[in-house]
Amino acid sequence: MESFRTIESLQSALTSLKNQGKKIGFVPTMGALHGGHIKLVEYAHKECDVVVVSIFVNPTQFNNAGDLEKYPKREKEDLQMLEEAKCDFVIIPKVDDVYPEEYQKNTIELGIIDKVMEGEFRPGHFQGVVNVVSRFFEIIQPDKAYFGNKDFQQVAVIKLMVKQLNLPVEVVGVPTKRLPNGLAMSSRNYRLSESEVQESSIIYKTLIKGREWASKFSPAVTRQKMIDYFQQGNLKLEYLQIVHPESMEDLNQYWVPGAIAGIAAFSGDVRLIDNMELIEEPQELHTH
Ligand code: PAF
Repeated sequence: MESFRTIESLQSALTSLKNQGKKIGFVPTMGALHGGHIKLVEYAHKECDVVVVSIFVNPTQFNNAGDLEKYPKREKEDLQMLEEAKCDFVIIPKVDDVYPEEYQKNTIELGIIDKVMEGEFRPGHFQGVVNVVSRFFEIIQPDKAYFGNKDFQQVAVIKLMVKQLNLPVEVVGVPTKRLPNGLAMSSRNYRLSESEVQESSIIYKTLIKGREWASKFSPAVTRQKMIDYFQQGNLKLEYLQIVHPESMEDLNQYWVPGAIAGIAAFSGDVRLIDNMELIEEPQELHTH
């Protein structure tokens, strides 16, 4: 694995590989890597010739300075994990290199995604994600880019961005990797104590209960039951919504295939999110 500290050095290493027609897979991260990130690297490996990972804590996507400050940093461990996962290139750039003074950041029209759940509770967050991911797409020009479905709204934002900016990148959403107790893997978990990790499994348990209730009750009733169940635990709920998977509009009376429940909650001052499809999308039938 080769590590780069400047964009220019990464770009010159990539040029000859691109000229040889190699397919580039990109995994953007903010470091503090965990099994979920390694799963993204594995997916990229299967589908591409060269895997590039970025480690960059993007200041423009934090709407809360304290959150940015406390974001876990584990560069030495990150590099070791990437080496073991057989990542080819890792780029760890400085803020000024990503956003030079003259650089015009991309923003896009996000519509409803920016107004519900993460959009509502983290104003400006998704435009910050668009700033940084579009910048990395410009720098790396990957064929495919990999994102965890734990942040399903983020995946929707990136797909929308690729469409609006007409970028030649395929965006791949990868299933959430979980701890044995069901808690979704997240960099923020590094800030939880062992007992908080155990308590936080209430998020997963609530989503599983939601699946069970969804087969018997309307979305509105299911949502209320999920909230009541969640509140038996010790975490503080920020939101629990059941939405249409594409329009992201709240569902009340009727279910749609792929209906998804999203949760954000605090364990102490650590904010955790997760989601789950409550009603499965019909699978395509293969006739041969
Ligand atoms: O999901 C994340 O870690 C970040 O939002 C991303 C995609 C690396 C952009 O900074």
